[in-house]
Amino acid sequence: MYRQTTGSMEIQAPSDPYLFVNDVRYEIPRDCSPEMTLNDFLREVLEIKGTKVMCKEAGCGCCIVCAVYKHPSSGEAVSKPVNSCITPLYSTVGWHVITVEGIGSAKAGYHPIQSRLADGYGSQCGYCSPGFVMSAYSQLRDNPRPTELEVEHFFDGNICRCTGYRPILDAMKTLACDSERSQCLDMEDLSRGCCSASALEKIPTSGLAPIARGWRGQRFYNPGSLADLFALLGRLRSQPHRLVFGNTSAGVFKEDAASAEHLLNIRNVPELYGIRDSEDGGLIIGSSVSLHELIVAFNDAGRRRPGFGHLGSVAEHLQRVANQAVRRNACWAGNLMMKHAHPEFPSDVYVLLEASRATVRISDGVSEQQLVLADLLRQDMRGRVILSATLPKINDDGHHFRSFKVTPRRLNAHAYLNAAFSLSVDKKDGYRVTERPSLVFGGVSGKFNHAVKTENYLQNRSLLDEETVSGAMQTLEAEANPAEEACGTSPEHRRGLAANLLYKCLLSACADALPRSEASGADTLERRAQSGQQDYEEELQPAPIGRAMPKLEARAQAAGEAKYVNDAPAARSELFAAFVQAPEAPAALRDIKADEAEKEELLASSEIRYSGQPVAIVLASSQWAADQAARLVVVDYEQTGDPITSVAEAVAKNSVIMQAPDDNVGEDFDQAYDGQACQVEGQLVINEQAHFSIETLTASVAPTEEGLVVTAPHQWVDALAMTLSRILGRPANQIRVVLGRPVRMYMSLGPTLALAMKRPGMLLRYRAAAGPDEKLRAASWDISSEAGYTLNMQAMLADELKHSIDSAFFCPSYRLSLKQMRTDKPESTFVRGPGPAPACLANLLLMDHLAFQLGVDPIEFKYRNLYSDGQIDIVGNTRRGDNFQRMWRELHQAAEVEKRLAEIAEFNKNNRFRKRGLDMSASSYNIFYDRGRPSQVYLALQASDGSVTLSHGGAEMGQGIGVKAAQAAAAILEIDINLVKIKATDSHVLPNNEVTGGSSTSEWNCQAAVEAATQIKERLRPIREANPDASWKDLLNKASQAGVSLAAMGSYYCKNGDRKGSRYSSTGVGVTEAEVDILTGEFEIRRADLMMDVGKSLNPGVDIGQIEGAFVMGLGYYTMERTLYDSDSAKNLTDGTWNYKVPQAADIPRDLRVHVLRNSPNEAGVLSTKAIGEPPISLAATCVTAVKRAIEAFREQTGKPKQFLAFDPPLTPEKVLQLSGVSAADRVIRQK
Ligand SMILES: Cc1cc2nc3c(=O)[nH]c(=O)nc-3n(C[C@H](O)[C@H](O)[C@H](O)COP(=O)(O)OP(=O)(O)OC[C@H]3O[C@@H](n4cnc5c(N)ncnc54)[C@H](O)[C@@H]3O)c2cc1C
Ligand code: FES
Ligand code: FES
Repeated sequence: MYRQTTGSMEIQAPSDPYLFVNDVRYEIPRDCSPEMTLNDFLREVLEIKGTKVMCKEAGCGCCIVCAVYKHPSSGEAVSKPVNSCITPLYSTVGWHVITVEGIGSAKAGYHPIQSRLADGYGSQCGYCSPGFVMSAYSQLRDNPRPTELEVEHFFDGNICRCTGYRPILDAMKTLACDSERSQCLDMEDLSRGCCSASALEKIPTSGLAPIARGWRGQRFYNPGSLADLFALLGRLRSQPHRLVFGNTSAGVFKEDAASAEHLLNIRNVPELYGIRDSEDGGLIIGSSVSLHELIVAFNDAGRRRPGFGHLGSVAEHLQRVANQAVRRNACWAGNLMMKHAHPEFPSDVYVLLEASRATVRISDGVSEQQLVLADLLRQDMRGRVILSATLPKINDDGHHFRSFKVTPRRLNAHAYLNAAFSLSVDKKDGYRVTERPSLVFGGVSGKFNHAVKTENYLQNRSLLDEETVSGAMQTLEAEANPAEEACGTSPEHRRGLAANLLYKCLLSACADALPRSEASGADTLERRAQSGQQDYEEELQPAPIGRAMPKLEARAQAAGEAKYVNDAPAARSELFAAFVQAPEAPAALRDIKADEAEKEELLASSEIRYSGQPVAIVLASSQWAADQAARLVVVDYEQTGDPITSVAEAVAKNSVIMQAPDDNVGEDFDQAYDGQACQVEGQLVINEQAHFSIETLTASVAPTEEGLVVTAPHQWVDALAMTLSRILGRPANQIRVVLGRPVRMYMSLGPTLALAMKRPGMLLRYRAAAGPDEKLRAASWDISSEAGYTLNMQAMLADELKHSIDSAFFCPSYRLSLKQMRTDKPESTFVRGPGPAPACLANLLLMDHLAFQLGVDPIEFKYRNLYSDGQIDIVGNTRRGDNFQRMWRELHQAAEVEKRLAEIAEFNKNNRFRKRGLDMSASSYNIFYDRGRPSQVYLALQASDGSVTLSHGGAEMGQGIGVKAAQAAAAILEIDINLVKIKATDSHVLPNNEVTGGSSTSEWNCQAAVEAATQIKERLRPIREANPDASWKDLLNKASQAGVSLAAMGSYYCKNGDRKGSRYSSTGVGVTEAEVDILTGEFEIRRADLMMDVGKSLNPGVDIGQIEGAFVMGLGYYTMERTLYDSDSAKNLTDGTWNYKVPQAADIPRDLRVHVLRNSPNEAGVLSTKAIGEPPISLAATCVTAVKRAIEAFREQTGKPKQFLAFDPPLTPEKVLQLSGVSAADRVIRQK
């Protein structure tokens, strides 16, 4: 369907639209759909695949490229990051696009950004890496000498699910001018990839003629002047049309973008740009000024122009709107128009401009109007354009401007609630509010923007008057009626939060008259630059086993050279597939209407079990076309009942599908529990968690003469092969006959999240007792775990959970009951630390409950109850070599717990509304060696040059199986590791391997590599003895000529030995400190110290990456990530980056210190090592209890009832606020 311009591509007429990619000019075919994005063009048409794709909503950053072009108005060269997934191809006409391939490669030499990211352990699975590289590259072109904090801010739109960000930030901060390790880039590095600025041509425009016509007849126009734009609007006013600037609104409201028939690109209309003074000293801002340009201009005005001091605060707030790439491509007018179309949209631009008393000028080409923003929202904008906004001067004397944004994640997140307040006070007159203030809110409801009654109330009142503040709060709470919001927070939360935000503003307006402790309520959490320390010792056994070294493929990943499944070039005649997904469940399927898309195969033929379930597959000649066609298919169904969408609901309806017999482990529970003075009971519901891998679901199947070749990212290739052969059987043959062509399917994030299995939600009820010696005596856990619509691997999951619920603490008696509950959702599955991650949090909260009831220090209580050598654990194993006490003492000292607790107490005393908390805990993770299949490694040595290829049967997910196995092989063969090349896992090379999971696949493959290398070494021994001085290459040559086989397969088959359920435990301890803004519920993890017992680490660099990555994934699980389902249709409402938030760089501990325990060889593990991929996730539970400590400090200081604070995770700002119990009694003015 697409015409291209090089090689076999068809050459277009010279007048056709064009763009440059990595300095090569490409014509853009006129028959691509206007919906086609730059990413589609790069990946599908040009097959330049270093640029990745995942969310298609500008939310993850893996698709970022650099765009360079001549500014349509100023003529200056612009260079910026662009989310290629959301940029319409036709709006890139005349651009120079630089992709990751354009700046460096193995052949041309890697770019310093690529090599620093790779060498600094910043690339694990590597799928996010090109996006990070290109974010840095494009922003450095604009700002070659950034500070460390600026570099950190470069990545506010990039998500990495593997590394935990610390290594990425550390590597990238070498690009900062103020870094201790500063190695700023020179201009040569920064201009790699593109023509010089002087060679840029003016962007071609096309007047009134459409430059493209789409498959549904849509047209795309590229006017070059305001006159042309108005002429077009005059013609198209009565037809569905849409102006397009950055098109970033399509990342939020996808349907809006899809419905227009005429798309008018306004980027190249020069009259809409520019910032200038108005006649009365105001500031006029063109509507096409980007959010980034606005920040720069406002910062400047705030510093230098009288009457605009408040714009500095506005700029600061704007830094928290969307992310770097969006802000550089999106205009403020587009944001206001989103609010126009969706009044409930919590637009930050609206609240900021409205509180700044801005007006906008609009025109339809015939007449112009100047409107206040409230009137703009009511205006019919069809055929009209926003031309500019005017910001008036505001008398700086006594003026206060404050704005707030409370979000589910620090950056790159929309607001639960936002607000901007502008008020002027007369200090000398008791801080009297001199004129009517402007109090603007977003996120309350579509109808409520201005707190009009509160504005009236405050006018002329003194803030120091006792009644003023309480009266203002009451008025506000009465007039703000938050609407129910499916994905927002509760109305009660937003009402209370609105009052708290206004209170913060009033405190800041009269802060000079308040004691410091009271004024702390006016503060917001300051984001300090992140830093990290890694404390480890290399224990070589022998080298390079034990050496810290990055993954061998890291540089290729950072340069976009690593090939992921969807990166293979499309074969001739390849077909692309997309699922048609069921919209609602439970339902009976009646028919599938596919008039415009050809119906091929039905998957769910009668019953729809969950929303998102595939019901048919559409095939097309490109992924883009398949996705579009799948959307056109109408599924005809009839709902058959009310769905069950949560574990709590499943428990209420008793939808049990599997129940394990109750267990009593150790002493009789009733005897151990009864009669204890300290008994507690409680329950918590733990949320689901999505994998949210940045490489989403992809598979490709090619029929060959041997059968089907399946390529897919999968944790167990053999299971995939077995399952396919079982499922396909006869149908597989049919598919070969019917299609006879390769088929590929790539699913972006939204469809993936709709059907993907997740970590199950759980409801856990507990009873526990402790003795007078503060020792845990008995614990009973009644667990209901969500299976989804059917049982998947629930029995194994349940086992993991039960066997982890003791965590790191000894208890002589357990009663365990476990049920699997059916819900109308996809099946649940294993996610990093499947049992231990929920179990550790639940156990920690139980320990917390007991410590509270006993009235003892929770840290001390946990220390007392840590497992000691010789105690029997929940599985029945005798604990040995856990090192808990040693690690606890060492970390307690290294993290200066006592000193910091004293500092925290002092801080809390002096800051009423900012509180800090610190907690320490431990975790234990059973490492299961009893597997049904071996781990295998195949080594092939090349006599011609001495190089080695290594294949293993594991699934490399970034955890470094490959590099560790290569280290093992190189150590045994005594060769340079750079001679070793890792090959992709292939079930035909190494069949029947064990699944990759449980964290221990790396060590088993190392052992298999040792076995393989030892075989070859033995064969080489006589040749070596005869040729002691031969080089490695000569040695292999001689061996080959002597008929020695230079290939070997090593296999490691493991068992637990005499232990039950596990071979050993992977253990760790952690200390976390948090600071909470009590009035907003937001918090920051100030510092985390983690110590893990890795045994003898096989590669401490990689292992530290695993520790940090797991911890940050746990941070997301416990404090941020939540899934929400529509209670009528069972649809997953959190199916994208807009509503499902995983941690980003700004959320990780500001100070993250990782310690690898020294001198602790693990006798039970191969090569004396311990597994590390999953265990550290549980230590993140200390983030939750650190925040709890802070909340408790507030409650204690303000005399709130002393009670155990129970809650259901994730511990979001909403829950923090609820637990803090802030009420009207707290929101008063207490003078000095
Ligand atoms: C990942 C992500 C995160 C975000 N986070 C936030 C956030 O935290 N806070 C927030 O407030 N917003 C947020 N946004 C919204 C973002 O600010 C807007 O998408 C952006 O400002 C829209 O500008 P645009 O140039 O891309 O507009 P487009 O998408 O091109 O256009 C949007 C609408 O505005 C109309 N339009 C554009 N210019 C004009 C004009 N001059 N006259 C008349 N109509 C016009 C268009 O016709 C269209 O209807 C986020 C968006 C994304 C994708
Ligand atoms: S930001 Fe483009 S794919 Fe996610
Ligand atoms: S390395 Fe970042 S997502 Fe895997």
